[in-house]
Amino acid sequence: MREIPGYEFGKVPDAPISDEEFELLKKSVMWTEEDEKYRKLACEVLKGQVEQILDLWYGWVGSNPHLVYYFGDRSGRPIPQYLEAVRKRFGQWILDTVCRSYDRQWLNYVYEIGLRHHRTKKGKTDGVETVEHIPLRYMVAFIAPIGLTIKPFLEKGGHPPDVVEKMWAAWIKSVVLQVAIWSHPYAKPGEW
Ligand code: HEM
Repeated sequence: MREIPGYEFGKVPDAPISDEEFELLKKSVMWTEEDEKYRKLACEVLKGQVEQILDLWYGWVGSNPHLVYYFGDRSGRPIPQYLEAVRKRFGQWILDTVCRSYDRQWLNYVYEIGLRHHRTKKGKTDGVETVEHIPLRYMVAFIAPIGLTIKPFLEKGGHPPDVVEKMWAAWIKSVVLQVAIWSHPYAKPGEW
């Protein structure tokens, strides 16, 4: 596989989240064996559609000045090489979400993605002088567009509607699970 610059799956430190906390969080989003099964099917369905999904999401972010702002420099100009570099890792994230096992390595990299939105690491991976932090409220709000807009792509796999619903449920649960993990650096010690 081609190397994606800044994609450090398997190379990041351990997340400060215990295995037990991780398991209980999965239970709290109602993650079950059925979701495991259907997200693997979603892996097959979404594999060939990553670029189209990214076109949709980037088009939407790009048409919202208050969102594209976070891909810009401190005077508000978008940084094209930043947008492009993140796009490649975002594409890989779609695949990791539906195809990878949710083990410790996965948890560690998901945690890293949270840090990259937070002032701890935003802009550092690509070495850009960018707006330094993405507010938590937008991280939570994004569950709606990222969760909902995947459905037409799941439908393209040609599976019956009840199967599409199950793949979609697994996708939404996973996005919520990951945003819950991403909220960790945003919470004061003892509040997460
Ligand atoms: C980076 C997904 C919310 C802006 C990323 C990456 C992924 C991702 C997968 C690349 C991670 C990597 O480096 O491997 C998501 C998802 C979100 C979300 C699933 C919510 C459900 C947001 C919001 C904004 C945003 C609300 C603000 C408009 C960015 C920026 C980066 C980034 C600027 C680059 C961070 C860096 O400097 O490394 N996002 N994101 N994201 N995202 Fe998001």
